[in-house]
Amino acid sequence: MEEKPKKQKPPTWQSVTGVYEILPEEAPLWEKAYAVVKNAAQFYDFKRMETGIIENADLFTRAVGEDTDIVTKEMFFIRSRSHRWVLRPEGTAPIVRAYLQYGMSAWPQPVKLYYFGPMFRHEKPQAGRYRQMQQTGFEILGGEPDPIFDAQVMLVAFRILRDLGIKDAVTDVNSIGCRVCQPNIKRKLVAYYKTKESKVCPDCRTRISRNPFRLLDCKREECQEIKKEAPTILDSLCSACKTHFRDWLEYLDELKVPYRLNNSLVRGFDYYNRTVFEFFASGTKEESGLAVGGGGRYDYLMEMVGGRPAPGLGFAFGLERLVSVIKEKKNGGGRARRQHIFFIHVGDVAKKRSLGILEMLRKENIPVAASLGKDALGKQIVLADKEGIEIVLIFGQKEVYEESIIIKNLKTGIQETVLLRKMVEEVKRRIKNE
Ligand code: HAM
Repeated sequence: MEEKPKKQKPPTWQSVTGVYEILPEEAPLWEKAYAVVKNAAQFYDFKRMETGIIENADLFTRAVGEDTDIVTKEMFFIRSRSHRWVLRPEGTAPIVRAYLQYGMSAWPQPVKLYYFGPMFRHEKPQAGRYRQMQQTGFEILGGEPDPIFDAQVMLVAFRILRDLGIKDAVTDVNSIGCRVCQPNIKRKLVAYYKTKESKVCPDCRTRISRNPFRLLDCKREECQEIKKEAPTILDSLCSACKTHFRDWLEYLDELKVPYRLNNSLVRGFDYYNRTVFEFFASGTKEESGLAVGGGGRYDYLMEMVGGRPAPGLGFAFGLERLVSVIKEKKNGGGRARRQHIFFIHVGDVAKKRSLGILEMLRKENIPVAASLGKDALGKQIVLADKEGIEIVLIFGQKEVYEESIIIKNLKTGIQETVLLRKMVEEVKRRIKNE
């Protein structure tokens, strides 16, 4: 009687909950995303800047805001005897810190920077929401607070989406005013919500006194009807903010960048003023409401972290979400590009020459797979078959003496012996015809 295969126990060690790991199969999509981002950065003249993953906690308390979810609930702390650090939850505050630290205000303005890298937020993990995720961000620092830059960052983001094959993305836009009009807007919101205090969720009750703008961001069912009737920010903008908003949208119209007004878009950070926006990709799982990216203007952030006032704005994409979208749209190539050919050695003498033969192919940029640790011909063929490879190269003792190699098509079973010096040329011809 055949022995039943034993059920394998799950491995003892698993990745930490909420940590997104890139498996080899998905890696080509990530490579594509990196390449598209780098290309856009080059085109629009953004320079790469990578800040540390560990930052001082207070940087985010000051920049992102004491009462925001990120600061109150989501930061990962690292403690040493004398310090309290965090794993950075986002990339903008560190970039502004670096602008000040490295004296970038003395460079020609504005300074345009971009970055890739992991960010950490202790959120409830779910599809598209991770505790370790990767962002790519673009920031324009210093110079003039001209709305042309608000349009330019959106254009960069749109070019990236389009180059990734995401052509149906939509952008929500809003203005949240400035120091002049925000107190007035907040007063109106507080006055309205005070009359509804008993009906809103506990978080919103706290927001009324601590962070009224966040009232508009509440996703709880019981708050939706109340939110609909709330005073809108746009109605209370000062004239400078209204002009800025109008000019920004006119640039977008001119550039044919699509957008839709969203009165309740406020974003989850205290550093924004005026321009805020979020990108959504339609026709995908991400329609669950998760944005693929977001950003805005932060003209007060330099001051908030101890620098001289200077404007700033930018956006960041969540790379896991972007990759998930391109995966679903099957625009990114799906599975990893398979190797075209598999190299098989038979016998010790042939094995000794294997690495040299593989190099001949690699030098010509021909991807080749092999299983050098397995000596049995049958086992190597099974592996090649499993990988879905059609063409195998078989190199045995006879071939060593003849300076030849067998090229076999596993699908048709046809095989041919060719001279080693002709191998590259013959392989290229077959790959072309595959
Ligand atoms: P954010 O909206 O918090 O903005 O994040 C940007 C993007 O990162 C989101 O739209 C989303 O795609 C992705 N993301 C955020 N949290 C998670 C998560 N837990 N799991 C997976 N993906 C996530 C910022 O971080 C700002 N620093 C953007 C910015 C740059 N504003 C101005 N410049």
